[in-house]
Order: sequence, then C-alpha cells, then structure tokens
Amino acid sequence: MSDKLWGGRFQVETDALVDQFGASIGFDQLMAAEDLEGSLAHVKMLGKTGILSSADVAEIVAGLQSIQQDLAAGKIDFTVDNEDIHMNIESILTDRIGPVAGKLHTARSRNDQVATDFHLYLKKRIPMVIEVITNLQKALITLAENNIKTIMPGYTHLQHAQPISYAHYLMAYFQMLQRDKERFEFNLKHTDISPLGATALAGTTFPIDRHFTAEKLGFNDVYANSLDAVSDRDFAIEFLSNSSILMMHLSRFSEEISMWVSHEFQYLELSDGYTTGSSIMPQKKNPDMVELIRGKTGRIYGHLLGLLTTMKGLPLAYNKDLQEDKEGTFDTVKTIIPALKIFTGMIKTLKVNETKMKTSTENDYSNATELADYLAVKGLPFRQAHAVVGKLVLHGIQTHQNLQDMPLSELKAGSELIEADVYPELQSDTAVARRNSFGGTGFEQVKQQIEIAKKLI
Ligand code: ARG
Repeated sequence: MSDKLWGGRFQVETDALVDQFGASIGFDQLMAAEDLEGSLAHVKMLGKTGILSSADVAEIVAGLQSIQQDLAAGKIDFTVDNEDIHMNIESILTDRIGPVAGKLHTARSRNDQVATDFHLYLKKRIPMVIEVITNLQKALITLAENNIKTIMPGYTHLQHAQPISYAHYLMAYFQMLQRDKERFEFNLKHTDISPLGATALAGTTFPIDRHFTAEKLGFNDVYANSLDAVSDRDFAIEFLSNSSILMMHLSRFSEEISMWVSHEFQYLELSDGYTTGSSIMPQKKNPDMVELIRGKTGRIYGHLLGLLTTMKGLPLAYNKDLQEDKEGTFDTVKTIIPALKIFTGMIKTLKVNETKMKTSTENDYSNATELADYLAVKGLPFRQAHAVVGKLVLHGIQTHQNLQDMPLSELKAGSELIEADVYPELQSDTAVARRNSFGGTGFEQVKQQIEIAKKLI
C-alpha cells in the first residue's frame, strides 16, 4: 500500500515526478492561516452537531491552535511529500495529537476545503485592495485641489485639442478608480459565500450545519448548490478581471507620466525617490516605476486569460485543473497592492511644472474653438464659423502668429463679426474658466467635482 494519506487502494508508489508536478504546497502554503481557520470552524461544527464527541473536538481544537501559534512564529515547515496545504496541516496535526486528528476530515473533502480557503484568502485581500485604491484617490484629490488653475493642453489623437485644468485631468483618473473600487466591492459579495460543507461534490450524510461554519468564518452567505460550491471560481475570475481593468487605468496614467517627464514635455518631475539612474549615463533619471506598472499590466491580463482558459470546458464538479487558480491570483495580489502604493507615493511627491504646461497651450491654436464659439454666439452658423477660423489658423501658421496675437484687421479679414472683445476669450485660462457646463473643465465645475469626490471616499 502507498503511504499517502489517500493511499489505501494503491499498490504502487507514485512516480517522484508526479509528486512534484502535482504538489501545490509550494504556493498554497500562502493560505495556511485560512486553512487552519476553516478547520477550526469545521471541527467546532462537528462538535456542536454531535458528529464528534466534545473530548475529540477539544483535542483537535488544541492541536490546530498550537499549529496556528507556530505558524505565526514562522516555526512550521511544509513538505512536498504531503502535496498541498490541507494534507500538510493534517499530517502536522497527526504528529501532534495522534490518530484522533483523522476525525477532522469527517464530512469534509479537500474540494470544499480548498474552495473555503481560497474564498477566505480573497475575502481578506479585496478590502486591502479597496483601501489602497482609496489612498491613491485621496492623493489625487489633494494634487487636484492644488492645481485647479493649472492649465495644460487637453489632447485628442495626442494632438493639442483644447486647454484644460490639470485638476480636471487628475479627477478623470479619480473616477476610473472609483469604478474600480465599486467593481471590487461587488466582487467581495461573490467572495463572501461559504462553500464549506459541500464536501466532495454532493453534500454529506452527516447532519452538518453549514450555516454554523459560515457564521463562524464570517461569511455572509452559503452556496446553495454543492456542485457549484466546489467548482465555482467566478469570484477569482472577477478579481483578476477587476485587477486587469485597474492595471489598465494605472498603465494609461503611467504612459502619460512617462511622456510628461520627458525632455520634450517637462510638464512633470518625479521625485528622486520614485526614479532610478543609469549604469552608464550619469545624467539619467528614469521613470522605472511607471514603466514597470505599465509592464506588469501584461502579466495581470495574462493571469485573467490563464484562469478563464483553465475554466473553459471544465466538467462539473472539482477537477485538478482548479489547482491552477491560485498562483496567478496570489501574484495579482502581490502586484497590484504595491503598484497602487507606489503610485500613491509618486502622486504625493510629484512636481508640476505649471509654466511649461500653460505655455504649451499658448502657441498651438488650441483656442481655435473659442474663436468659432465666439462667432457662433454672434449668430454665424457654427459650420461657417468653423470654416472661417480654419482659414485664420492657416493664415496664422503661414505668418507665424497665434490667434490671440493677430491684429484685429487680420482677424476681421476672416469675419467682420470679430471685434476687440474677442481677445480675452482667446486666453487659455479664460477658455478653461468658461467651459462651465456640467462635468466640464471650468474651474467652478472642477471645484464641484472635487467636492463630490470627497464625499465618495
Ligand atoms: N491542492 C488542491 C487544489 O488546489 C486541493 C484540492 C484537491 N482535491 C482533490 N480532489 N484532489 O485544488
């Protein structure tokens, strides 16, 4: 007989490579604390329902608690011989309290056990993610509040389009993060459900109490279907999907920062604390962190695609394929939390070059819409106004003049409707201030947005 925990029906030992390839202890030990919590709730339920005697339960509880303490003190070693975290802990328990440890697995399977651990793991991590997102949102609000009147070029097609407030730009990212947060909050609902007691796939003949274990573990709900309970990984897929969208947002933001700290733009300067140097070029100050965050977006998408593909075509209920759900998820947690923390630090220490930003809105014809709007207000149909200003822009390009610097006589050659009162409207800060439609970049609108945002966090 094989000496495996499940070895009864086996006549030949497994190949060494099988043990190594099949083992998950190398990574699922990250869920050791959750596994112990799950076992404690389970054994207490076995006592409460009379499935185990209170003496047995007391012994098992004491054993599990001693492992908890040693785990916290870093004194527990795991071994590949015991395949995964569940069998490692059961084997340690057996070493400590003897054969009574074998009663712990009554009315339980590793299938509902691993699902429980994984749910508990994410149920703890999702609020951590939400918290670090909130911290980044707070940093954005502070930077926005200090930059309501900072004028920068707004872009479409990466071409100067219309001047905007830098605070307005920042608050766009606040909104993206707000949606990210809402997605994680929803994700938490689907994570906060207990699979424990689904057993291998079909439930059990023992008179267990699934609501008791759910409550002990702090779960808000219990899976209604045992097949679904052991094979559902939607909550992890949602987590990876939410993380992918979050990283996509950070990556777009990173791309802009990396452009805007470049010599060509010089809109922003990152603090030395968030940049690195070059091993050969002494002058270099590289925005490595934004590049890495942009780069790591790819691996998070990869984890999402990986799990979606693993799940595709899986028959009900548990299959060993499901063991592949963990590494990508753990790596995602390990990636997005520091990425968000670093981003927050960068935003808190960011230097904004207001002059560079503003000057680049003064020689780019990004006030052309102002002139067209001016003519439209004077009664010229907007399409005609557009054509008039197009010609004036061409004239400006040919004679090296900005619209706001053109003599009135030249402007009038475009349209007699243009008077001297046009000049203040052609200034970029006036252009921003006057875009006071709801959600627009007008200073008053941006202030309002910030007030609303403050109430959201
Ligand atoms: N290590 C396994 C996993 O992560 C635990 C569940 C094993 N269950 C089984 N029937 N082999 O999925």
